[in-house]
Amino acid sequence: MEIKDAVRQQFGANAAAYVTSSVHAKGGDLAMLPALAGMTGSEQVLDVATAAGHTALALAPHAAHVIGIDLTAAMLEQARALAAAKSVTNVTFQEGDAEALPFADGAFAVVTCRIAAHHFPDVERFCAEAYRVLKPGGRLLVIDNVVPEDDGLDRFINEIDKLRDPSHVRAYRVSEWMRYLERAGFAPQVAHQFGIPMDREDWLTRMAPAPAVALEVRRRFAEASPAAREAFGIDARSFTYPKAIIVGTRPA
Ligand SMILES: C[S@@+](CC[C@H](N)C(=O)[O-])C[C@H]1O[C@@H](n2cnc3c(N)ncnc32)[C@H](O)[C@@H]1O
Repeated sequence: MEIKDAVRQQFGANAAAYVTSSVHAKGGDLAMLPALAGMTGSEQVLDVATAAGHTALALAPHAAHVIGIDLTAAMLEQARALAAAKSVTNVTFQEGDAEALPFADGAFAVVTCRIAAHHFPDVERFCAEAYRVLKPGGRLLVIDNVVPEDDGLDRFINEIDKLRDPSHVRAYRVSEWMRYLERAGFAPQVAHQFGIPMDREDWLTRMAPAPAVALEVRRRFAEASPAAREAFGIDARSFTYPKAIIVGTRPA
């Protein structure tokens, strides 16, 4: 199946889980974004792969207007309902693809993309599109799972993630992000690296994998090497997926 069809299928079937998922709804990173984006309240903002809209809604009080786009219609319904429940009126949601942004050149001061770029088949295309829709001096904030620079550890977590979620493409190394953003024309900087221990069963079952797949994921965690245990903080119940906030500035 094409990745984008897998995205619509996976996230369409499990959309409601993203409204309440603590990894998505909370996370100290959300509070850091307005300052990292240099927001003053006057900005037009685009949140790419908005899902249930948590990032768009966190940015809205600091912006003139936020547009959240996503491939998955069922996610956008959840986002609209959440915005209405929170009485946020300067946010709109529409369908759209991160790799073909349906907006004019220079339309936004800020573009964000949180916990989603690992689903994009052509992440460099996304970087180029974000650059195009930003004004000179505008900022792209990418917040995503990142993997260690070590080949074995990179393979360990990306294989598990792909088993659990067929719409997973690849969680990148920080060095890869820096290269992709530079190639697109950005001046990139790693603003913050962090990790939040996650309940493994919660993480696994949010994607409703087939029972045999779930067993295989549990087996791989149980048999993880000492290096993987340390790198991903694996214990009996939880693990930590390293994350980074990377800010790419479009030169003025
Ligand atoms: C984990 S959720 C994102 C969470 C959200 N950004 C937040 O902060 O809570 C991943 C989302 O990426 C969307 N997605 C995946 N590939 C996409 C693409 N090419 N274009 C737009 N959205 C995409 C999925 O539909 C899904 O809603």
